Amino acid sequence: MQNHKIPPASVLFIFGGSGDLNYRKLCPALYNLFIDEWMPEKFSIIGIGRTEYSDDSYRERLLDGIKQFSRRKDEQNGKWADFSQHVSYLQMDAEKDEEYKKIADIVKTKEKEFGVHPNVIFYMAVAPQLVPDIAKKLGPLELCSDSKCTRIVVEKPFGHDLQSAHDLNALLKSMFKECQIYRIDHYLGKETVQNILALRFANALFEPIWNRNYIEFVQITAAETVGVEGRGGYYETSGALRDMVQNHILQLICMIAMEAPVSFEADEIRNKKVDVLNAIRKFAKEEVHAHAVRGQYGEGWMKGEKTPGYREEKSVSPTSNIDTFAAVKFYIDNWRWQNVPFYVRTGKRLHEKTTIITIQFRPAPSYAFPPEAAETWRPNRLTLSIQPEMDIRLRFQAKRPGQSMTLNPVDMIFNYKDAYDGNEPEAYETLLLDVLGGNATLFMRSDQVEAAWKIIMPILETWENRAPSDFPNYAPDSWGPEDAEALIARDGYNWITMPAKHDE
Ligand code: BG6
Repeated sequence: MQNHKIPPASVLFIFGGSGDLNYRKLCPALYNLFIDEWMPEKFSIIGIGRTEYSDDSYRERLLDGIKQFSRRKDEQNGKWADFSQHVSYLQMDAEKDEEYKKIADIVKTKEKEFGVHPNVIFYMAVAPQLVPDIAKKLGPLELCSDSKCTRIVVEKPFGHDLQSAHDLNALLKSMFKECQIYRIDHYLGKETVQNILALRFANALFEPIWNRNYIEFVQITAAETVGVEGRGGYYETSGALRDMVQNHILQLICMIAMEAPVSFEADEIRNKKVDVLNAIRKFAKEEVHAHAVRGQYGEGWMKGEKTPGYREEKSVSPTSNIDTFAAVKFYIDNWRWQNVPFYVRTGKRLHEKTTIITIQFRPAPSYAFPPEAAETWRPNRLTLSIQPEMDIRLRFQAKRPGQSMTLNPVDMIFNYKDAYDGNEPEAYETLLLDVLGGNATLFMRSDQVEAAWKIIMPILETWENRAPSDFPNYAPDSWGPEDAEALIARDGYNWITMPAKHDE
């Protein structure tokens, strides 16, 4: 997140090189970095997988992914031929110890070719259960002890619960130093998420009122219209709480709730975030039902199309009790946030694809206007729309033009697309550039990951020990189960959706 320099010579090994993540996200991101002239002068990308490919057929497949999924749809900007020369494929059985020597050999060859010792990056784009084994086999390679140049990138989910996350941390740390381990949470690479820090700490306006004295509540909605999209096997071991709340949503809370950093050093930012996680109230098991709601989508209709229920999805048990929706009311027990509720909800097959953060300010302390002037009076509200809209809206009261004094709420809107050229980098571009450049600010430190698991463990354990009696309990194209409405209605509020409607 510091201003970038062109990274030094690098060799990037992608385990899971023939898989979906590389096809849809990593390779398009690397190619965009190349087009934008951010890639090192000397670099190699080596996809590792079991599937058989020649270098040429591998490149063809990756180009196909770029055509489908890159933000730049305009063919190849004429640079694919150059870029693809840096890409090759290594067919390898990652379960066999002796195969790993090939990796060390490649690094030696590249070192000779580049004339310098390159950064060596191992990207784990594989199923989470394979990560420990691959890491164990990489560990003995001499180059892994080079804490300056060698890095390992681990995708989420990072562990399955607190214990397994702790074990994975211990294992990785037995082979790599913490500064070599890059735990990815792709939300942190999103432009609009990084902008939260700019909004809060580059403006004098917001920070003085950014606390319990002025803020009534905070809401985060991360809603998706898609179902589990063929990922039933993974999702059956996960659920919405693990898949979205433990990582992405808690990270958003950290950005909203953290204290001002004194510098933009990776550890300074991460210290401030971990303070938030440590301050989030841990529920006793008997408190869980009053603070957390789970849901699972049934069959129904989505925008005119019949869609199966979660239990009918591929690789899902017909009696599954996995949550595809979760809503939680969190509290942060510190001076800034005591008693300000943070309502969060996330789910699949909801009415709209939208991620928004809403900061609702307290009502004006006294109100001198005649009652009829104020029928539509609403408190101030700041809405940060993360995606797909990318904007920031501040709601305030205005006088409606005319001879009578009538007030109504209006929005002041900053929209990225209008303000800039609308061609902002994707999260993976930012994150990969940070990995290449050795900047860990936007990555999760081991204590952050474990602190996040500690928060959700009581909810997970309570849910796992008590089977829901009402699953499936929400229809596709809705906003989730009724209990989620009740969770917030009990406090006198309602969930807020975009665009911010003035009648809420
Ligand atoms: C991933 C989850 O981390 O985030 C997916 O595993 C989810 O289930 C995705 O769909 C959402 O990401 P985004 O960027 O589309 O909000």
